[in-house]
Amino acid sequence: MRLTETADVWWKNAVVYCLDVETFFDTDGDGRGDLRGVSQRIDHLAELGVTCLWLMPFYPTPDRDDGYDITDFYGVDPRLGSHGELVELITLAQDRGMRVIADLVVNHTSDQHPWFQSARASRQSPYRDWYVWRDEPPPDADKGIVFPDQEKSLWEYDEQAGQYYLHRFYKHQPDLDIANPEVREEIQRVIGFWLQLGLSGFRVDAVPFLLDTAGALDAADLPDPHDYLRDLRAFMARRHGGAMLLGEVNLPYKDVRRFFGDEDGDELTMCFDFIGMQKLYLSLARSDPAELVKSLRERPDPPEEAQWGTFVRNHDELTLDKLTDEERQEVFDAFGPEESMQLYGRGLRRRLPPMLGNDLRRLKMAYSLLFSLPGTPVLFYGEEIGMGENLAAEGRNAVRTPMQWTATANGGFSIADPDRLAAPLPEGDYSPEHVNVAAQRRDPDSLLNWMKLLIQRYRECPELSWGRYTLLEHDSRSVFAHRSDYEDGTVIAVHNFADEPAHVALAVAGAGVGVQAVDLLSDGTADVGEDGVVELDLDPYGCRWLRLIRPGDRYIV
Ligand code: NOJ
Repeated sequence: MRLTETADVWWKNAVVYCLDVETFFDTDGDGRGDLRGVSQRIDHLAELGVTCLWLMPFYPTPDRDDGYDITDFYGVDPRLGSHGELVELITLAQDRGMRVIADLVVNHTSDQHPWFQSARASRQSPYRDWYVWRDEPPPDADKGIVFPDQEKSLWEYDEQAGQYYLHRFYKHQPDLDIANPEVREEIQRVIGFWLQLGLSGFRVDAVPFLLDTAGALDAADLPDPHDYLRDLRAFMARRHGGAMLLGEVNLPYKDVRRFFGDEDGDELTMCFDFIGMQKLYLSLARSDPAELVKSLRERPDPPEEAQWGTFVRNHDELTLDKLTDEERQEVFDAFGPEESMQLYGRGLRRRLPPMLGNDLRRLKMAYSLLFSLPGTPVLFYGEEIGMGENLAAEGRNAVRTPMQWTATANGGFSIADPDRLAAPLPEGDYSPEHVNVAAQRRDPDSLLNWMKLLIQRYRECPELSWGRYTLLEHDSRSVFAHRSDYEDGTVIAVHNFADEPAHVALAVAGAGVGVQAVDLLSDGTADVGEDGVVELDLDPYGCRWLRLIRPGDRYIV
């Protein structure tokens, strides 16, 4: 693949940034962020180096699941703006070299959606079969509940309908029946609509549940759900060649691989690496990267034209559901010992900085890992400045507080009365007074400036996103070292997980003279010995990215 071709598969080395319009920037003073607000702050994202903006659901909603409960798949919630303002935002983003994707939440609708209202009202409704009904709940109705604190069954009796309906999430989110060809067609129409308005793809919500047709009564005769995903991808590619699907598939690696499709990768373009993320936390808790190494060894390679989506935090709880009970407890003990920090017995409703004791060295190391590990990094708004959570907010809302722009009232997010804000800001060490964009722009050592540097270097190093990566052997227990090679280029990244200095000797080159390893993040050059070994020192929680320069190479380093 030549470098120029890589732009066609832009998502492979993208920097994805997820934000909720509602909590980003409020321009009309109603306490709620809006689309105009995102447009006004587009240059913050461009300067950071974001290349793909992921908008969380902005559709009309009763807002009982932060917008993941939708009443019109074709609409824009008037509290956030209009279609016109969305198109304006997309245009501005494109002008800054940024694409925009949005959540596609079609596993379910809100129970207030006109389709469901019609479906429940009569068995003759044209929408009755768009949902999944039964006279009696199946015996396993209480298995696999996603929100166990709120729900006791996957099936809810509806008085008006006189039947039970399936809901994988909250009971106010009835599942659509994708075994129904009309539903499938409608989902395509929805995709086509937003692509036409300028979106470059979708983050697909809850993919395994969307594809799961087990609730349908005639399950035995159903077509393979993966054929459906293949159809969706093909449809999208016909309408918009460059569009991508980034899927939420939190399953063991062997099962996730199927969602990329066959050799050519003809289903999801990207899948989030939930396992790697969980193992990263275990490794951070142990100051030992062994579990991360193990997960990378197990992680299947995506097809050539596909990619893993890597992340440190997202808008949900930090799920630890794929760790063993003992491992999960270790992470709880290290990063969320109090019950109020935990959720559903499987996760933490926290952001990274408070978990790491706001240790800037450790934070910088964690994000350096994110940008150097193979996969496309996905950031959640506020990570770039190290925002903390607000445990006083309910459930997952702890991590969904307003973006902190300045040290002034409401963190500069809104001029509304503080008690009218879409979500309450954190107090104490993580309040806007201590954590905000304005201050960090001026501080050369801030997390924000570190993040900008990492993003610049990541974008300049095709090795990291396009290359083959190899885990490097050495004998320091606390160090994670890998190399990435692409064409003639080699980048080496080393990360120290411990609060002590470390030293590693890495075999990185063939025997020869004059090879150097040049630091990409700060000043520093190490000579590679004639035997091809380079000796590197690392500070406590230190990290280094180095480019191998061979005699005659013409890189700017
Ligand atoms: C997954 C989303 O990430 C989560 O926030 C939401 O509650 C559920 N899907 C239901 O849509």
